[in-house]
Amino acid sequence: MGISSYARVAASLLALSTSVISQSTNATINVDGEAVAVNASTLSSAAAVVSDAGLLPSETLQLTDAVLANLTAVELQNASLFSFDDNATTFDKRSLSCKVFPGDRAYPSTVVWRIFDLLLGNRLIKTVPLAAPCYSAWPAETNAALCTTITNNWTDSYMHEADPTSIMWPLYQGRTCMPTDDPSDTCTLGGYPSYAVNVSNVAQIQLAVNFARNANLRLVVKNTGHDFNGKSAGAGALSIWTHHLNEITYIPSYSSASYSGKAVKMGAGVRAFEIYAAARDLGVTVVGGEGRTVGVAGGFLAGGGHSPLSSLYGMAADQALSIEVVTPDGRFVTASLEKNSDLFWALRGGGGSTFGVVVSVTVRVFPVIPVTVMTFSFATSDNVTSTTFWEGVRAYFDYFVTYTDAGIYAYFSTFLTGVDSYSFGMAPFFAPNKTIAEVEELTAPWFARLAALGITITPVVNQYDDYYSAWWANFPLETVGITTIKTASRLFPKSNWANDTSLNATFDAIKTTVELGGSFLAFNIKAADNDNNDNSVNPAWRETCLHAILATVWTATTNDTEIIAASETLTYDWMQKWRDVSPGAGAYMSEADIAEPDFQQAFYGTNYDRLYALKQQYDPKSLFYAPTGVGSENWYITGQLTGLPTQNGRLCPV
Ligand SMILES: Cc1cc2nc3c(=O)[nH]c(=O)nc-3n(C[C@H](O)[C@H](O)[C@H](O)COP(=O)(O)OP(=O)(O)OC[C@H]3O[C@@H](n4cnc5c(N)ncnc54)[C@H](O)[C@@H]3O)c2cc1C
Ligand SMILES: *[C@@H]1O[C@H](CO)[C@@H](O)[C@H](O)[C@H]1NC(C)=O
Ligand SMILES: *[C@@H]1O[C@H](CO)[C@@H](O)[C@H](O)[C@H]1NC(C)=O
Ligand SMILES: *[C@@H]1O[C@H](CO)[C@@H](O)[C@H](O)[C@H]1NC(C)=O
Ligand SMILES: *[C@@H]1O[C@H](CO)[C@@H](O)[C@H](O)[C@H]1NC(C)=O
Ligand SMILES: *[C@@H]1O[C@H](CO)[C@@H](O)[C@H](O)[C@H]1NC(C)=O
Ligand SMILES: *[C@@H]1O[C@H](CO)[C@@H](O)[C@H](O)[C@H]1NC(C)=O
Ligand SMILES: *[C@@H]1O[C@H](CO)[C@@H](O)[C@H](O)[C@H]1NC(C)=O
Ligand SMILES: *[C@@H]1O[C@H](CO)[C@@H](O)[C@H](O)[C@H]1NC(C)=O
Ligand SMILES: *[C@@H]1O[C@H](CO)[C@@H](O)[C@H](O)[C@H]1NC(C)=O
Ligand SMILES: *[C@@H]1O[C@H](CO)[C@@H](O)[C@H](O)[C@H]1NC(C)=O
Ligand SMILES: *[C@@H]1O[C@H](CO)[C@@H](O)[C@H](O)[C@H]1NC(C)=O
Ligand SMILES: *[C@@H]1O[C@H](CO)[C@@H](O)[C@H](O)[C@H]1NC(C)=O
Repeated sequence: MGISSYARVAASLLALSTSVISQSTNATINVDGEAVAVNASTLSSAAAVVSDAGLLPSETLQLTDAVLANLTAVELQNASLFSFDDNATTFDKRSLSCKVFPGDRAYPSTVVWRIFDLLLGNRLIKTVPLAAPCYSAWPAETNAALCTTITNNWTDSYMHEADPTSIMWPLYQGRTCMPTDDPSDTCTLGGYPSYAVNVSNVAQIQLAVNFARNANLRLVVKNTGHDFNGKSAGAGALSIWTHHLNEITYIPSYSSASYSGKAVKMGAGVRAFEIYAAARDLGVTVVGGEGRTVGVAGGFLAGGGHSPLSSLYGMAADQALSIEVVTPDGRFVTASLEKNSDLFWALRGGGGSTFGVVVSVTVRVFPVIPVTVMTFSFATSDNVTSTTFWEGVRAYFDYFVTYTDAGIYAYFSTFLTGVDSYSFGMAPFFAPNKTIAEVEELTAPWFARLAALGITITPVVNQYDDYYSAWWANFPLETVGITTIKTASRLFPKSNWANDTSLNATFDAIKTTVELGGSFLAFNIKAADNDNNDNSVNPAWRETCLHAILATVWTATTNDTEIIAASETLTYDWMQKWRDVSPGAGAYMSEADIAEPDFQQAFYGTNYDRLYALKQQYDPKSLFYAPTGVGSENWYITGQLTGLPTQNGRLCPV
């Protein structure tokens, strides 16, 4: 398209309704060489206002057939790039091809990107890697002071969240632009998407979904970037950045066939600390995760979502009453038990970036309850041999079922700290709706055994009036941004606790991997039975009383060959010991090994076949892709080192 037709397009766009623009902006666009101010009164956003009392303000701005018809009416030659996909079922999968990549002839031209940005209301961001200020190769960004701030804050999740494309586990981005004190190093986009849309309404999400699908672009969704396996990154992609969809509304009397009571509706970008604070102010309790900045309605709930409240109330996905979503055809729909119930089932456990872009989730809430929290640790010492140490840990294992049945969640760790030296940390033993006396009674049998072994502990115990206070005081902001760790997960079933033979085998497998140097980070947790759990959460969650994470840790100077060797030891040696004692069990997709063998069984269990069929039905063109996502086995990323997978490469069908 030449510049003159672009001018016609721009002119006609400027004639469109402007009533929907809420953000004032004064960027300029170039039309026929002339700078035109783009501001609240001239900018046209391709959106219509749809009134519905149940919608969040961001959900009332939608892309409709009427809006698109207007675009075609004014001879927008590329309007088909933004159209819905109403004929998806007639699509022939044999015509799938690699996603287009910057530099390809079929890649959208600069002009097309500008039109897209105009339609979005100026929300398109061309990617600048977060650490670019450290590099002279990015002259427009180079800034030594900013580089220092970025370097110092690299392990801080808030900084990565606030960036349109940065992710918290850069190993999967390809480590192509890490903070550095050598400005002459190279900094490339690597696995970062090429563009991100800073979405603030549904119309923008629909435009991005339609554009990516029609132009055969790779599409990614980034919310916070917490994903352990880089599922919110993708080279050459267009990214939908949901971080600013942070509205929260209270529904005092939600009513449906299956639930009557209090609920909250939260935008896709709402983080744990935000929903917890809102819940505290509303006098209710919401089921979310332990990580402060994790996106509750994004990848967390989509993967199932385990919570300090799960042993009492079940998974986060079990609390969902209704989900608003933009499906791969570009349509905005409600999914609930009443409407699009199969999609609703899939969105609650089937994983992020698979069935569409979630815009908001409505969840049921619970009354305010007191919470008692205990922390303590012990280690080998002059008086505690490693044998005694392990007997103390083994004693704890005897109470896992008792504790989870009492509603307890415990986050604990065991590390090798030196030659034949180990430490155990309980941080914390989290007891919702329990008093200090009740917690002391529950722990007394285990503590008596520790005392008999000569293991001295000094528990710190506090009771809090509400969940928020207990959670805030006991879960500090976690460290992210590191590239020297890889994790794997196992959901050990409660049946392993049926007798001493199977329990000893379980314990011995775990102990052996810690002795070999694995970092053991575990949750004594269960997904409490409840009346809203007919969803796609990994069935292994319904059986577990131990979600165990094993991590391999290397150093900053470890080379790629050694990293691959360490990863393979984790995947095929250490974890095999765990799989051997829990045949048929699963792993938690959101805290797992990207190389988990037979991930379909491990992450989705018996739900996989149904999820795969729904994926073909809702997303026949495979617009959505995420590593280890449902249907991801049909795609691969080009140019990868076996054993060190990243998102830095082109996405192609197998
Ligand atoms: C510090 C830390 C603490 C954690 N604590 C817990 C915990 O207590 N319990 C627990 O269960 N898990 C926990 N996790 C794991 C967490 O659930 C996952 O990392 C999860 O994927 C994060 O989702 P997000 O939306 O915040 O992150 P992102 O990385 O932005 O997204 C994760 C995945 O979901 C997709 N996605 C995000 N938003 C949407 C959307 N609106 N629509 C469609 N797809 C979307 C992304 O494309 C990506 O595939 C923790 C992780 C970290 C790093
Ligand atoms: C942008 O607009 C605001 C308000 O209209 C104005 O105060 C500001 O000076 C403008 N900035 C530029 C760079 O034009
Ligand atoms: C928006 O831009 C137009 C065209 O340049 C200008 O006439 C108008 O005053 C601007 N409005 C605001 C609010 O800045
Ligand atoms: C279509 O365009 C006309 C004229 O520009 C405008 O009045 C109308 O609001 C537009 N309709 C939609 C749905 O955007
Ligand atoms: C946009 O339209 C022009 C003119 O019809 C066409 O040549 C071009 O290929 C289109 N671009 C895309 C990305 O479809
Ligand atoms: C859908 O397919 C039918 C028949 O192939 C065709 O006539 C129609 O134009 C298509 N509609 C859209 C929106 O592509
Ligand atoms: C960096 O961290 C400091 C201290 O934690 C904080 O005050 C500052 O806002 C952070 N900066 C960025 C860019 O996140
Ligand atoms: C994204 O949009 C929000 C408003 O919705 C704005 O506050 C924020 O500054 C924008 N971020 C970027 C990087 O453009
Ligand atoms: C170890 O045992 C000795 C003798 O019983 C005792 O004096 C000492 O305090 C113990 N040390 C620790 C760290 O418990
Ligand atoms: C909390 O404890 C009280 C008193 O023991 C009990 O009545 C109530 O049912 C408990 N609530 C939950 C959610 O378990
Ligand atoms: C112990 O429990 C396991 C797992 O439930 C079971 O397979 C095994 O038969 C049991 N063994 C004994 C000795 O009861
Ligand atoms: C399990 O291990 C404990 C030691 O930790 C041992 O006393 C017990 O006999 C073992 N039980 C079986 C059935 O192997
Ligand atoms: C990686 O480190 C190992 C062990 O130090 C060394 O043998 C190997 O040559 C290194 N590989 C590369 C590619 O540097």
